[in-house]
Amino acid sequence: MKHTVQITIDGVTTELPVLEATVGLDVVDVRSLIQQGLYTYDPGFLSTAACDSAITYIDGDAGILTYRGYPIEQLADQSEHLEVCYLLLHGELPSAEALGAFKQDIADRMPIDDHFARLFDGFTTESHPMSMLCAAVAGLAAQFHEGLDIYNSEHRLESAKQLIAKIPTLAAMSYRKSINASFVAPDPNLGYAENFLNMCFGETGQPPKVSKTLADALDKIFILHADHEQNASTSTVRIAGSTEANPYAAIAAGIAALWGPSHGGANEAVLDMLMEIGSIDQVSDYVARAKDKDDPFKLMGFGHRVYKNFDPRATVMQASCHAVLAEQGVDDEPLLAVAKALETIAREEAYFVDRRLYPNIDFYSGITLKAMGIPTPMYTALFALGRMPGWIAHWSEMLSAPFKIGRPRQLYLGPNKRDYVPISDR
Ligand code: MLT
Repeated sequence: MKHTVQITIDGVTTELPVLEATVGLDVVDVRSLIQQGLYTYDPGFLSTAACDSAITYIDGDAGILTYRGYPIEQLADQSEHLEVCYLLLHGELPSAEALGAFKQDIADRMPIDDHFARLFDGFTTESHPMSMLCAAVAGLAAQFHEGLDIYNSEHRLESAKQLIAKIPTLAAMSYRKSINASFVAPDPNLGYAENFLNMCFGETGQPPKVSKTLADALDKIFILHADHEQNASTSTVRIAGSTEANPYAAIAAGIAALWGPSHGGANEAVLDMLMEIGSIDQVSDYVARAKDKDDPFKLMGFGHRVYKNFDPRATVMQASCHAVLAEQGVDDEPLLAVAKALETIAREEAYFVDRRLYPNIDFYSGITLKAMGIPTPMYTALFALGRMPGWIAHWSEMLSAPFKIGRPRQLYLGPNKRDYVPISDR
């Protein structure tokens, strides 16, 4: 049955169609409202669907997340990141043969040209990896621009493969630069996460020494971050892409948006917070500060805009986190003790339970990456690495059907038209 909603403005009633979702909330189509001389007002897009999409579904009340219909728990448990990349890009799981070919395509595209690697010479060792990653991905636009037709699906797929292949290499190069070490080239015999770890922590000419447990845990982190529908960075990629910008430039815009502590930078902010708290005997003081509305201190890694009961990614991450802690033998790390105390408080104290401030994925990913020995400034770069297939799948989905440039309007609250006053008369 076709639904509509009626809106009456100054006695004139207009019917607005309701677009039916395959699952989840339906959407009121307000596009014709402008003909009545009205805009809708929704800062932060709390009630606004900015597009239609068939990639990822979230039910925030029930704690459900699916990629192309497949539950995140099943993908994290049974799949691998490159298979999830294929799924997000193509809409279906690959056959064994198609997956093998996709992996080969990625391995072939991982190396970075020597002349391009010199871009990193322009940075100091103090430079944040996200700044280097953002610049490097934007820089790829120079290499892949001429002849790139964004309306050709084969060209879009090639861009997707280049970006998925090159982001681990560029992220690892950002890290090596920050420790003033020479770059380690990708090894076509290693898996995706293994390769990244070897490019960060291995040495050229030495056999790779990557722990399978750590590579598997990292691969799972990539799967859990691979997409999250219209989050801030994905929306940024869509808006930048809607201008018909080069895809590498649009993705660089997404990386910039991800960097902030209210988005991907939250995992780094969690660790900074744990370090500020420092020891278990400080926890109750900091919790009291978090509850004090006059204190600027904020607990990082708790609650989520969309999830109202729990973040399903955090549930998977929590189990994986405990496996990594056991493998690394770091259960007694003081910061991890602080994290565990905060986790217990958030799950038990009425203040946190009532406000639905449960530990989210950033909380557990920060702790897991710390236990894996990954330096804190790299955390958000790892989020970017994981999110790459989601960004590029959304960009490609938008371009594969008619779309409009992203161009919101505003509620104007500035002065009315007035005459310019010459400076001598002011
Ligand atoms: C994400 O994965 O992008 C974050 O949880 C933020 C969001 O979805 O808004």
